[in-house]
Amino acid sequence: MSQELREIAIRLKIGDYHRHIFLCVGTTCCSEDIGGAAWKKLKDELKARNLSLSEGPSACYRTKVQCLRVCSGGPILVVYPEGYWYGGMTEDRIDRFIDEQILAGRPIDEWIFARNPLSNQEH
Ligand code: FES
Repeated sequence: MSQELREIAIRLKIGDYHRHIFLCVGTTCCSEDIGGAAWKKLKDELKARNLSLSEGPSACYRTKVQCLRVCSGGPILVVYPEGYWYGGMTEDRIDRFIDEQILAGRPIDEWIFARNPLSNQEH
C-alpha cells in the first residue's frame, strides 16, 4: 500500500472510529435543499461536539452519499456498526440523533425503519 494512502488514513484518523454514518442527499429520496441542509447540520454538529476527526467511543466517520437504494422518505441515514436505518432525517432531527444515538447509544425507535447490525469481529 502506498505511503500516501497510509498518511491520509492517519490524518483522517481511520482506525480510531467506533461509528460510521452515511447520509443520503440524493434527490430521489428528498429535495436537494433538504438533503444539503441535513448534511451541513450533521457535519457542523459532529465538528462542534468534537466527534469528527476524533477518538473515543462516540467518534464518528461521516460520509455523504447519493443513494442508499431506498429512494423514499429521506433523507435516509444509516449508522454502523449498529446498522440502524433512519428515515426522514431532516436538519431538525440531527441534534437529537447525536444526543441519543451517538452519545447515549440509545436508538430512536420511531425514526428507525430497518435494522441490520454488522458483526464487529475481525477477519
Ligand atoms: S436517493 Fe436517497 S436512497 Fe436513493
